[in-house]
Amino acid sequence: MPTPDRNLRSVDLPADWAPDSWRARPALQMPTYPDAAALAGVQAELGALPPLVTSWEILALKQQLAEAQEGRRFLLQGGDCAESFSDCTSDVISNRLKVLLQMSLVLVHGLRLPVVRVGRFAGQYAKPRSADMETRGDVSLPSYRGDVVNGPEFTPEARVPDPRRMVKAHARSAMTMNFVRSLIDGGFADLHHPEYWDLRWVTHSPLADEYHRMVSGIGDAVRFMETLSGSQVHNLNRVDFYTSHEALLLPYEEAQTRQVPRQWGWFNLSTHFPWIGMRTAALEGAHTEYFRGIRNPIAVKVGPSVTPDQLLALIDVLNPDDEPGRLSLIHRMGAAQVAEKLPPLLEAVKRDGRRVLWICDPMHGNTESTSNGFKTRRFDKIRGEIEQSFDVHAAAGTRLGGVHLELTGEEVTECTGGARDLTDVDLERAYRSTVDPRLNYEQALETAMLIVRKQSQLGSAVRV
Ligand code: PEP
Ligand code: CO
Repeated sequence: MPTPDRNLRSVDLPADWAPDSWRARPALQMPTYPDAAALAGVQAELGALPPLVTSWEILALKQQLAEAQEGRRFLLQGGDCAESFSDCTSDVISNRLKVLLQMSLVLVHGLRLPVVRVGRFAGQYAKPRSADMETRGDVSLPSYRGDVVNGPEFTPEARVPDPRRMVKAHARSAMTMNFVRSLIDGGFADLHHPEYWDLRWVTHSPLADEYHRMVSGIGDAVRFMETLSGSQVHNLNRVDFYTSHEALLLPYEEAQTRQVPRQWGWFNLSTHFPWIGMRTAALEGAHTEYFRGIRNPIAVKVGPSVTPDQLLALIDVLNPDDEPGRLSLIHRMGAAQVAEKLPPLLEAVKRDGRRVLWICDPMHGNTESTSNGFKTRRFDKIRGEIEQSFDVHAAAGTRLGGVHLELTGEEVTECTGGARDLTDVDLERAYRSTVDPRLNYEQALETAMLIVRKQSQLGSAVRV
């Protein structure tokens, strides 16, 4: 439950805002539903269903993000590019959780900071697309926009936006949340049993060995403490896990935007931590309008074309009261551009004294196509963007407080490079993503390790 002071009204309710005031603004990336009455019916149905998260969890996360802004925590946000209804299975969910838990342990141990764990899951079902229509041969159909909108199959039936899919997305999100919560409440994240997080198929990996050595060192330390104190060290058996998704499909988000007893203002109760994607972050756009009125902590993706003035104007609208924990900026410049494009933004925000949490997404600026026709990302570029981001922040006197990654616990080959040095040819072996290429287990663990290495080289850029 929230402490009473968390509920003090420290910021003003935005004037002229309502959960549907976004409708008066240009809404990019929205599907065209053929049946407006069916859409309205689904919105009413969703509005009456129980929420997926609670306001006190949302406010607890905001508090943790405020601490991350001050350098007292590090944020790990990760999961699929797009969840799919068919991947809502116990294996996919628990394997992804295992990878995130292992990464967070590496980060806690190496950075000596508590980690805020946020999944890109339990609602990551809507995708922005570069074109409204997809053409194959002489057939043009609406583009696939994620399972909450339409189906990926290239048939007219699958591609017609169907509002009933929102009800299914809500149910799958609830099942995912329920399973994650039950695993954690049941002791899955217990530090006394890190073997619970081992992935069955990972054998003989040099990184897994390094990871296990670290885990056994931690286990020894825990046992030592417990022997010394004669009792169990508390709070090692559970962790906080929060959810996030791109709040792209505004009719879905609007239907789950509510007021709750004993709280002021409005909450999006479909997720703890929604973000605005790069393509929908226009100042005058519908997404910015929607986001300014909810009390959740929020994030915005910031790409290489954003200017310092645009960013400051967006911050004015989204966090006019400079509320701690409210706003995170996820930069995704690409390894080739980060050194040039990021410094002016950091300097402008710093000069204006704005309170934000800076997060690096090293995935979305580094997507390319291979000669054998796969969308991939090279691990060297992902590493390069992370390392350069740490350097750029250190030079600007700002703090990189988290990473945002696309990863999976499944045994896939979608990104090249990494410890096993996957090549373009390996992509043919186990490429499963319907949208963007994800880090597999080893590449994800390696990413956590490289963050620790980079941070320790830099010394105190993330201070305790
Ligand atoms: C994403 O996070 O999957 C995405 C589409 O990112 P961006 O908005 O940064 O392009
Ligand atoms: Co993506």
